[in-house]
Amino acid sequence: MLLAIETSCDETAVAVLDDKAFLAGERALSSVLKHEIVSSQVQLHSPYGGVVPELASREHIINLPMLVQEALRAAGTSVRDLSAVCVTRGPGLNGCLLVGVAYAKALASALRIPLFPLNHLEGHIFAGELREQITALRLPALVLLVSGGHTELLFVPSFRKYEVVARTRDDAAGEAFDKCASLLGLPYPGGPALSALAQDGDATRFSFPVGMPDSEHDFSFSGVKTAVSRVVRGLGDLTDGTRRDLAASVEQALVAALVHKTERALRRLRPVSFLLTGGVAANQPLRTALGELMGKRNLPIIVPDRRWCTDNAAMMGMLGLRIIEHLGPELHGWKPGTQEHSDLAPGVPFGIGAVPRWPLEEVSFRPAVA
Ligand code: KG4
Ligand code: ZN
Repeated sequence: MLLAIETSCDETAVAVLDDKAFLAGERALSSVLKHEIVSSQVQLHSPYGGVVPELASREHIINLPMLVQEALRAAGTSVRDLSAVCVTRGPGLNGCLLVGVAYAKALASALRIPLFPLNHLEGHIFAGELREQITALRLPALVLLVSGGHTELLFVPSFRKYEVVARTRDDAAGEAFDKCASLLGLPYPGGPALSALAQDGDATRFSFPVGMPDSEHDFSFSGVKTAVSRVVRGLGDLTDGTRRDLAASVEQALVAALVHKTERALRRLRPVSFLLTGGVAANQPLRTALGELMGKRNLPIIVPDRRWCTDNAAMMGMLGLRIIEHLGPELHGWKPGTQEHSDLAPGVPFGIGAVPRWPLEEVSFRPAVA
């Protein structure tokens, strides 16, 4: 059994996956993903209008061991059956990552099993494989990864190779949703609430500029927030109707910017599939607009189930399974004392720490030897 741990931000998440079944060719998700738990801290941070890093890491350290026990029990297994541990090493909040990494290192070394320190953004990409029948992304693929912390348009020419087509210069798309929602008086995290409010609004009433429309390599979302704040100040007290129209206009502006850059990248790169992932992939107008765009081009669009769009450990485990599959015999060849930084246990890279900033193009093919 593979244990996957994710603590990069404000979700403590644990998943147990049956690596033996997966390596034997089993692709039914229910046979591979034995259990998963996501414990969200949204309520804890809500009064502060955003994630408070210190509070988040304190929560992780309290919750993680209990969640691991609970997940193992629910999966009908125990630590003795664990064959490897996957953990998010970065990018994310340093203190939060450290909790997961320290726990995973201790567990892997005590059990003398391999440890895989993984990239969180890469996990979001492998969330696309979590379907009833686990299916690898068809390559070359174009990926739009939009979350509260990241906005990246990526080209994936081959397995675990990432070329950044465009990324944000300032705020992430989810951050822009959240900040604009806050200006409209909605509680944190405001993205889903803003989208709900937008449903009955008039998107043509306000026009909000989206930065860098002509740049192929940059998104910029901070201008929208400034424009909304100026309009809100000018309007004074907002009626419900005006709030709805503001929400609809903001949502349209953000969605249009994402769709516009995606369309340009499609024309240039000609991928054979498209993946929309990350927390903002839960946004219905974005899903619809990109679905239509791909429909016109006859391109398959993959959008993970909503629970795997936001942060979770199943996606990290999925990535771990693919790495184990590709390492194959090399992994079986690991012997105690042969790994760099480690003379205690096989495949445990003890010399690793958290990596708060870790761009995807710097992901190495063999993460176990850090
Ligand atoms: O991936 P995620 O759970 O956490 C990060 O790694 O950031 O993404 C959370 C982000 C938040 O900014 C949230 O407001 C946004 O995703 N989000 C949405 C929707 N659902 C979640 N934004 C717009 N519309 C939604 N329906
Ligand atoms: Zn994330």
